[in-house]
Amino acid sequence: MVNMMTPAGDFGVYIHWPFCLSKCPYCDFNSHVRHAAIDEARYVRAFAAEIASTAARIPGRTVSTIFFGGGTPSLMQPATVGAILDAIGKHWAIAPDVEITLEANPTSVEATRFKGYRAAGVNRVSLGVQSLDDAALKELGRLHTAQEALDAVAVARSIFERYSFDLIYARPRQTAEQWSAELRRAIGEAAEHLSLYQLTIEPETPFAALHKAGKLVVPNEDIARELYDVTQEICAAAGLPAYEISNHARPGAECRHNLVYWRGHEYAGIGPGAHGRLNINGARIATETERRPELWLMRVESLGHGLIVDEALTPGEQADEYLLMGLRLAEGIEPSRYTSLSGRDLDLERIATLREQGAVEHTAAGRLRVTMSGFPVLDAVVADLAA
Ligand SMILES: C[S@@+](CC[C@H](N)C(=O)[O-])C[C@H]1O[C@@H](n2cnc3c(N)ncnc32)[C@H](O)[C@@H]1O
Ligand code: SF4
Repeated sequence: MVNMMTPAGDFGVYIHWPFCLSKCPYCDFNSHVRHAAIDEARYVRAFAAEIASTAARIPGRTVSTIFFGGGTPSLMQPATVGAILDAIGKHWAIAPDVEITLEANPTSVEATRFKGYRAAGVNRVSLGVQSLDDAALKELGRLHTAQEALDAVAVARSIFERYSFDLIYARPRQTAEQWSAELRRAIGEAAEHLSLYQLTIEPETPFAALHKAGKLVVPNEDIARELYDVTQEICAAAGLPAYEISNHARPGAECRHNLVYWRGHEYAGIGPGAHGRLNINGARIATETERRPELWLMRVESLGHGLIVDEALTPGEQADEYLLMGLRLAEGIEPSRYTSLSGRDLDLERIATLREQGAVEHTAAGRLRVTMSGFPVLDAVVADLAA
């Protein structure tokens, strides 16, 4: 599986903290609620062991981004975050301008830890605000009010030079007028980055059961499209254009960590249920660890890693992944990189048809990208172009 075409680019380390105080009914992330105290020291040892075993496979890298995701990483003690950062620094060089993000839930308790995270080295936080409407927050099963979330944003602003927050839209009964007002208010609180996700009904979540029973009605395709369009207009006018289908930033303030995924660069996935992509001897290795926290711990303690998937991607798989991830970005993809990965050109006839439909376009530099009107049907565009 020789692939000389994966450009070096940024190298990222993803750390997954798999615990939450309660499970939100829409969420299918690898998150677990535990009523007994979490033995953080034991987890630190396991994270350090997995970092060491990964670094032994890909030595000599310089880490340019680190992302603590979850679950709810803001439930970790700052000392735990610091110890994990120390372990990363022991095995790899750290770039002087490294971006270190921590995902936080916006409750008052969690905001009290922000100073500690800053002292540990975190320089960016991403807050799960989700909505500025208390009734919507309740329906989403959130444990915070809108005011509490705004207070947490204010604390973040006072401590971190960079912060972002997430909102979920296309919620039950939401109209374009309501969403526009909420989004404008949110932009007033935002700095350089916002993640705006359309509510997705994920299989096997409580929301999926309610949806199936007709008790949770989400906006139909036309309304969802209207909501998407007002999102783009309002954000672009406020200087926060979409650089990815759900992510908006002032130019230069994009989340470098997520760009590592979307641009197909290299990243190590550490912790329960984390995914990684390692470039080893010309091969692109997909890794995935055991999802269940206690089983992951036991696996790491006995084997030194929690891997349950560790396999080289075929050229076709690499090329499809490049399309799937790269076409999410406003900058699009380089057709020549697709060709080098897959050994064949993109189908010019299919591209011509998609261009006629206004779903894709070429940039002056020859990149292929999805247009604003193509983004709402991105899955269909990718399916059309993939092998
Ligand atoms: C790992 S999650 C959560 C981070 C943090 N635990 C929180 O809830 O604030 C990252 C983001 O994905 C989004 N998300 C999760 N499930 C979603 C769904 N079913 N539909 C749309 N967005 C979702 C939320 O905006 C969330 O903040
Ligand atoms: S949305 Fe966040 S807090 Fe809620 S269950 Fe998922 S990861 Fe946990």
